[in-house]
Amino acid sequence: MSSDEFVVTPWHVEGDIDYDKLIKQFGTQKISNEILIKLQKITGEDHFMLRRGVFFSHRDLNLILDNHEKGKEFFLYTGRGPSGHTHIGHLVPWVFAKWLQDKFNVNMYFQLTDDEKFFSKQELSLKQTSNFALENALDFMALGFDPKKTKIIIDTKNIKTLYPIAAEVAKKINFSNTKAVFGFTNETNIGMIFYTSLQSAPCFIEDKPVLIPLGVDQDPHFRITRDIAQKINRVKPALIHNIMIPSLLGPGGKMSASDEKSTIYTTDSPEQVKKKINKYAFSGGQPDIDEHRKIGGNPDIDVSYQYLRIFFEPDDDKLKKIYEDYKSGKMLTGELKGILIEKINKFLSVHQEKREQVRKNLDDYMMKD
Ligand code: TRP
Repeated sequence: MSSDEFVVTPWHVEGDIDYDKLIKQFGTQKISNEILIKLQKITGEDHFMLRRGVFFSHRDLNLILDNHEKGKEFFLYTGRGPSGHTHIGHLVPWVFAKWLQDKFNVNMYFQLTDDEKFFSKQELSLKQTSNFALENALDFMALGFDPKKTKIIIDTKNIKTLYPIAAEVAKKINFSNTKAVFGFTNETNIGMIFYTSLQSAPCFIEDKPVLIPLGVDQDPHFRITRDIAQKINRVKPALIHNIMIPSLLGPGGKMSASDEKSTIYTTDSPEQVKKKINKYAFSGGQPDIDEHRKIGGNPDIDVSYQYLRIFFEPDDDKLKKIYEDYKSGKMLTGELKGILIEKINKFLSVHQEKREQVRKNLDDYMMKD
């Protein structure tokens, strides 16, 4: 693959992604200024992930907002494929979803697709993916979703609720559709082929329009859902997409939960975080200090800076100062990494405590069917 090529699918992300090109390729809409202003007006806040383009694209978000202004309700849905422990990149759409739930006071559904990861990962058993589903649920709950307005769906547990909807959806998708969208072959197991109808099911769990905050790699599933929605007399799901969170190892590719080195897990100890960032975080700095002082670093490709921008430093003034100091050479790579390590560890110490506290409430969040 040459340097200007990239691939974004639900099961494979590779290369240096050009997000404007991706918007064209996928046929989504860029989040316009008009939408940003409207969101600000409704919520009374200017969320840094919107302001910085971490959420950069959408489908029908304008309709959701227009309808909201007319008093029509929607609900939220997102999900996670439990192939391992949660890593910090996964938290991006969830933190944003929590903000949306607070601001719009709406119901939220969180789908854990233990079946999907069993189908797609040769090395994982169903027992393993089901266990990871429970572990991942703790990370989600730890973010503080309202237990009265939030339901967690685990595919193998809640199939009774999902199946009648998935059946309606599945009848309208033919094999050549999924083949074209996902590149399936005759060797693909049939669980994978049916799966997109299960990921579609929560879109129609309530008789209201849905808004889905999600990583843009998941868009293809919902492109299919949107194509068939009218055929089953339902409203097309609306989406708001975040960029892929870069792997520690550098630009190109998202963080993968299965590569220890490229990933910071929510369960990592402060020492592990420190070691991983110092050892692996791709740096935009110069090879030696003299040169760095003279030429300066490149924050735009520096993974530590990017993590601050995307998640860990919401304060624009502080972020700007870091950007300028690093670019001018005043700040060294070790110092930049030090700032990130401290931020992540501070976040994780609170998160890990909450994660343990919510363990006893797991049952309150689970969908009962
Ligand atoms: N397929 C997603 C993953 O692998 C999990 C998922 C299920 C999801 N439903 C979703 C993600 C809705 C975003 C929105 O992570």
